[in-house]
Amino acid sequence: MLLLALETSCDETSAAVVRDGKVLSNIVSSQIKLHAEYGGVVPELAAREHLKNLLPVAQAAFSEAGISAPQLDAVAATQGPGLGIALLIGFKAAQSAAFALNRPFIGINHHEAHLYSPWIASGRDASVAGLPSADFSAFQPNVSLIVSGGHTMLVLVESELKHRVLGGTIDDAAGECFDKTGKLMGLAYPAGPVIDRLAEQGNPKAYDFPRPLLHDANDDFSFSGLKTSVRYFIRDHPALLDDPQKNRDLCASVQAAIVEVLVKKTIRAAKREGVRCITASGGVTCNRTLRNELALACKKNGFTLRLAEKSLCTDNAAMIGILAERKLLAHAPLPALDAEIKPGWALV
Ligand code: KG4
Ligand code: ZN
Repeated sequence: MLLLALETSCDETSAAVVRDGKVLSNIVSSQIKLHAEYGGVVPELAAREHLKNLLPVAQAAFSEAGISAPQLDAVAATQGPGLGIALLIGFKAAQSAAFALNRPFIGINHHEAHLYSPWIASGRDASVAGLPSADFSAFQPNVSLIVSGGHTMLVLVESELKHRVLGGTIDDAAGECFDKTGKLMGLAYPAGPVIDRLAEQGNPKAYDFPRPLLHDANDDFSFSGLKTSVRYFIRDHPALLDDPQKNRDLCASVQAAIVEVLVKKTIRAAKREGVRCITASGGVTCNRTLRNELALACKKNGFTLRLAEKSLCTDNAAMIGILAERKLLAHAPLPALDAEIKPGWALV
């Protein structure tokens, strides 16, 4: 089955061509530089960029896959959640293409797609050399951590296409916490990767920040209090920002607080749910300390760990296409021709 997938839910314009579980192409055009100037994603600008870039990105995906539109068996797009005016662009383009080609159209929940991105592997594990490939033969029930700029959640994935959300953030997401504390320190947006780099030579024990909800008997997260305590800490120690080593220590200490909460709550949920596998995806999963700490904790507790590859942690159409193909094969219900986007589509 040959499938085109489009993803425009936030600030990445992406098109992927997928065939029988293999990612033939996955083109991502990121708008990070455009939004950096404003310190966050500006929806109107994002929509204009998607409009400008979508067809060239899709054309590049076709060309890299060596296919043309009439060969497609189906078309998919992200239906939600995300920024309404951004979602509309990829969703309506994909729906129109499916209509014109008289092929099935699949609307995908972006977070559900994140759940399966850790099962896409390239390199050694790929069944076709060099092409990333979904490895569902290795699938095991798992607890999945989705951690990005907009979302932090733990999901029990009982079997393929069957999941239940265990908990989520009640205020700021982990990525938002990285970005907002970075902004307080005067770091460029998005601050997550900058903090990751600076923390490498910092002391994570230099400053003690709260670990919100760490010991609460639920799978929810809250990071706004941590951000506020960093704000007060900087207010009370303004000279600290002029000292490069103290800056690095601050980055390492904030990062340690975020990572400890994410790792401990993920491990606890997996133990309680009785699964033997943990997966993680979303932009913050690029964080090296989070990757290392998850790996250590999984090893210590006997869990298999599947982290999404870094290029598939951030938003991409490959994960949309891989899930859409599974849904078509499983005869999941398809959206009607006049289906609308669902900007607030919560995973349940
Ligand atoms: O998944 P993503 O690309 O977009 C959505 O929010 O959906 O995630 C972006 C987030 C930003 O908050 C960014 O700061 C964070 O992921 N991020 C990181 C790292 N790379 C990206 N946070 C910490 N360490 C990183 N290396
Ligand atoms: Zn995402």
